Amino acid sequence: MELPERVTLIEVGPRDGLQNEKNFIPTKNKIEFISLLKNAGFQEMELTSYVSPKWVPQMQDAETVVENCLDDARNFVLAPNKKGIELATESGVKHVAVFVGVSNTFNQKNINKTTEESMNELRPLIENLKRKGYFVRACISTSFYCPFEGRIDENDVLKVCQDFEEMGVDELSVADTIGMANPRDSYELFTLLKHHLRATTLLTAHFHDTRGMAIANIFASMQAGIDRFDTSAGGLGGCPFAPGASGNVASEDVVYMLSQMGISTGIHMDKLLAAVAYISPLLSKPVSSKQFSLLKNVSQHQ
Ligand code: HMG
Ligand code: MG
Repeated sequence: MELPERVTLIEVGPRDGLQNEKNFIPTKNKIEFISLLKNAGFQEMELTSYVSPKWVPQMQDAETVVENCLDDARNFVLAPNKKGIELATESGVKHVAVFVGVSNTFNQKNINKTTEESMNELRPLIENLKRKGYFVRACISTSFYCPFEGRIDENDVLKVCQDFEEMGVDELSVADTIGMANPRDSYELFTLLKHHLRATTLLTAHFHDTRGMAIANIFASMQAGIDRFDTSAGGLGGCPFAPGASGNVASEDVVYMLSQMGISTGIHMDKLLAAVAYISPLLSKPVSSKQFSLLKNVSQHQ
């Protein structure tokens, strides 16, 4: 088996995890959640997003979250357009994450533009960020399946990735937005991308766990050479504009699998579970990750 010795987990719970929450989570609780996650060892994290508060009310406190959470780590803030990138850079962020869907229909529902319109808007903005020394991550949604258009052609994913590479992005986070990919899809797409993309571009896989396939997809992607995964504490998450998308793969379940396989992540499991325990009473749904459920069952029987 070809497996990495070390894997980097990018914690996306504070952004992808919380963006879909019905009830507004008070800003001070978001800040404490982020602090607990940092304490668990995450060196890379999506903190929040600069998006329209009308479209995603949960992220309306982005500025305050950023003000309180920036440190020397790789703190990503999502921004889909010119206004979002301006707000991010004004707030002192050094790591910007743009996002685009390979599927036109999804992109329109998510950011009110076709994929091509988004790419054309982002090109000069990304080039400008790179000239100024920012780290740019590009999140690529619906890379396997789209809730509106069905199966996505892998060459269309490759084309979006290559266009981003030409703009100078540092990282591509390739996403199974609605959790429909299977391990064979994952192995094949990441093998193709690894083969055609530059070795210097960081390639990250982002799996949602709608159908319970995410952990198997991570295993398959590692065999295609991927050693970076977006994960979400408690398995929170989902995109409000992708019907059928449930949470991201749970960070604690991935940490468990990798540590059992002798692959290091640098994440401290007890501290990660403490962060999940902190946020869970504030959520509208119970946390369903395997590791957190085990912990709860054990403490109920003690
Ligand atoms: P629009 O209505 O076409 O935008 O929305 P607009 O340019 O006409 O502006 C409308 C209003 O929004 C204006 O305010 C703008 O100032 C404001 P008003 O004059 O009405 O008061 N506005 C903004 N405010 C804050 N930040 C901004 C911004 N831009 C405009 N950046 C827009 C277009 C992109 C704004 C909207 O569609 C939007 O906010 N979409 C957000 C979608 C989103 O956050 N989706 C979830 C994240 S993606 C995801 O989860 C997938 C991922 O996890 C990977 C995967 O799993 O696939 C990354
Ligand atoms: Mg996502």
